Amino acid sequence: MARPDGLSTASIKDTLAVLGDVIIPTLGKGVLIRRPRIVALAERLNLDERAVRRLQSLSRKYGTGPLLLPIPGRTQAVILSPEHVHRVLQGAPEPFAPSTLEKHAALAHFEPNVSLISHPPERAERRYFNDEVLESQCPVHSMADGFSAVVGDEARVMLAQAGSELSWDAFITAWYRMVRRVILGDAARDDHELTAMLAKLRRAGNWAFLHPGRKGLKRRFHERLKEHLNRTEPGSLAARIKARPNTDATAPTDQVAHWLFAFDPGGMATFRALALIVSHPDAGRRASEEISANRTIGHTPLPFVRACILESLRLWPTTPAILRETTEDVQWPGGVMRKHTHVLIYTPYFHRNDESLPEAHQFAPDLWLGAAPGGHWPLIPFSEGPGICPAHNLVPTLGSMMLAAILGRHKIELKDPDRLHSDRPLPGTLDNYTLRFSLTG
Ligand code: HEM
Repeated sequence: MARPDGLSTASIKDTLAVLGDVIIPTLGKGVLIRRPRIVALAERLNLDERAVRRLQSLSRKYGTGPLLLPIPGRTQAVILSPEHVHRVLQGAPEPFAPSTLEKHAALAHFEPNVSLISHPPERAERRYFNDEVLESQCPVHSMADGFSAVVGDEARVMLAQAGSELSWDAFITAWYRMVRRVILGDAARDDHELTAMLAKLRRAGNWAFLHPGRKGLKRRFHERLKEHLNRTEPGSLAARIKARPNTDATAPTDQVAHWLFAFDPGGMATFRALALIVSHPDAGRRASEEISANRTIGHTPLPFVRACILESLRLWPTTPAILRETTEDVQWPGGVMRKHTHVLIYTPYFHRNDESLPEAHQFAPDLWLGAAPGGHWPLIPFSEGPGICPAHNLVPTLGSMMLAAILGRHKIELKDPDRLHSDRPLPGTLDNYTLRFSLTG
């Protein structure tokens, strides 16, 4: 069906199907912090694959979109074609604003001034702060040598304590020790309480408007974070923050709260990449050779291991829903998209679309070793354009250092090898919380 303004509109039945197969499972797993039991259920019921099938069937029925969903009180569009993905993402912050109503409601629980939910003009300084300190344009951060020593330390302690089995809990504890040292300095290494406070705020954020907020906790969290930043420990990103001309608009603790939060998915992607590498013998061999030769492409170390992390994010994107809101009417070939339309890009639909991507359900790290991953096809775990994740280089850098530190020291196997078989299509969801590895040697 086409509306008077020209864009196709889904039937009520199809809209309910998108809500049931795509939107509710995404919200149910937890947007800001995952709910492990629901993630386990999603793997068992293969919910992510079902979501991709649903959007494939809508695309066959309604064409290339954008497709409007008739949801009372809201104008919602779903993007179904690669060209439209690029157009929307390149059009940030206007006319496609990254700051949307729901994102604001969720993130304001602990970082009301983060760049992601800021509008111009404040957005410009906050985004610039992130780009500058995280060195978003550099494949390898200028402080990477120091970070590498920190990752090596934490991996060593983790493996010594793990004994013969590496679990998610042991991994994420070590990962966050490393993250706090890199961002705030060595004195923050054992401040697990800071990360726990943030986890509580993220749990409130999962409920967005439906949670009244934890104002006292938010204040205490920001005070504690500020104390860490004020130490400006040499070798940490805190020292870099102090060295730049921050203004009232910068709101450094809000930006850094986001970093601490977003390293959780960084850990998930790294742990899943470890599972992929050890369950694919050819990849395991390539990774080991690269690590022992300390290979680089240009100035970028460990290109294959980095590609494995990107591939883990293609297969199981940790930000499956990229949301935008139009700031003005936008003309499309099919018609006009009204101002304040909510736009959904569901990345698994593009990353796992077996009608267009032959490698959809295989582990194919080589996709990331060419000039443009997937050519024109959108492989966008970190988004793209002016709103691209400013840590899109830092996450693979730290993740590949961690994988090298683990794989270089141990013979490691997945304890439940049936979950990832190199000769079977990979599952739509991979529950990172229940992955376990046996360590020998
Ligand atoms: C696996 C790890 C990560 C993934 C997959 C990821 C992905 C993304 C994506 C898709 C966006 C765009 C969101 C949107 O437009 O709604 C984003 C934004 C952002 N990410 Fe990440 N991220 C990761 C980790 C990190 C880390 C570790 C940091 C900081 C150290 C970070 C900092 C940011 C910031 C500041 C933004 C907002 C950018 C803006 O306002 O334009 N991310 N990330």
